[in-house]
Amino acid sequence: MYWPGVISHFADYLPVNPRTPELTLQEGSTPLIRSQHIVKHLKLKSLFFKFEGMNPTGSFKDRGMVMAVAKAVEEGKKVIMCASTGNTSASAAAYARRAGIQCIVLIPQGKIALGKLSQALMHGARVIAIQGNFDEALTIVRSITSHYPVALVNSINPFRIEGQKTAAFEIVDWMKGVPDYLALPVGNAGNITAYWKGFKELFNRKEINVLPKMIGFQAQGSCPLVTGIPVEKPHTVATAIRIGNPASWKGAINARDESGGSIEAVTDEEILAAQRMLAGEEGLFVEPASAASLAGVLKKNQAGFFQGKETVVCVLTGHGLKDPDIAIEQCRDRIEELEASEEKIIEHLELSGEK
Ligand code: F0G
Repeated sequence: MYWPGVISHFADYLPVNPRTPELTLQEGSTPLIRSQHIVKHLKLKSLFFKFEGMNPTGSFKDRGMVMAVAKAVEEGKKVIMCASTGNTSASAAAYARRAGIQCIVLIPQGKIALGKLSQALMHGARVIAIQGNFDEALTIVRSITSHYPVALVNSINPFRIEGQKTAAFEIVDWMKGVPDYLALPVGNAGNITAYWKGFKELFNRKEINVLPKMIGFQAQGSCPLVTGIPVEKPHTVATAIRIGNPASWKGAINARDESGGSIEAVTDEEILAAQRMLAGEEGLFVEPASAASLAGVLKKNQAGFFQGKETVVCVLTGHGLKDPDIAIEQCRDRIEELEASEEKIIEHLELSGEK
């Protein structure tokens, strides 16, 4: 079936008008994959993965970016700008090119994954690496975009949230209902805000009659929403969520409290173990930050939180190819080196008796 992209498919739910350009890279309609293996370790009825890494630039950012860029073009803007831990910059760069406008990105030097940097560069964005972290980059971008005719496309731009809420619509559409829990990684907190908005809109339109509980997970070294205090020097292996002062702080707390959910911390070790589990057991390769959702569900399961009756959806926000370094670091020692000899390889693999 032809998929026209987020703006066209969800037009009735989005702030679009006849002047909004029909921008798309056919983002959205990402798979909701039923767990076949990991679910067996858990006291749950069912577990699903919303694999947002299948979007055109490899992350959920495309849903919101297509809206933000379309609206910027509608308003006559010729340049967009964002601060980013990587995925937002990759998405902004791609959609700016698609729309024929310019893109400037501010990134924390040395702290963005290789795949993301290569995307922003290949799509022709101006890439400025600052000697500072994401929070500092965002402060600068907010100031510049408020003084110059440059559109801000971070998730404080409300059109980003509008586009991103469509992932909630897809989950409801595909499940013909809602999960009991929606688990997701939390960084700048736009996504948890967007999902909650999406579910609530369907509830208000009477398309669903219950709401899921939102369970968000931050990395232990960057978990201001857990402690209630901004983190000046956030750290985590999951660079995508290395954020100390989330812009959508209130939105996240609101989603947590209104839904009766929680925002908790997971360690880097737990994140990487969940990443390996998704790849090694389910065949799903995600970047470290994305595995925080499963890491959190595993942790809650271990603490005896689930009763065996629940349905959980874990949002897998970005593709594993975004961050090949961290992946290879974890399993480099599994490469087996041999000379180019068929005989030696057969012998090494102990295949000899199997003809
Ligand atoms: N997962 C991935 C893969 C991300 O790239 C991000 C955020 C998140 C989760 C957290 O989502 O910020 O809405 O709470 N990345 C941003 C960026 C900050 O610049 O690409 P959030």
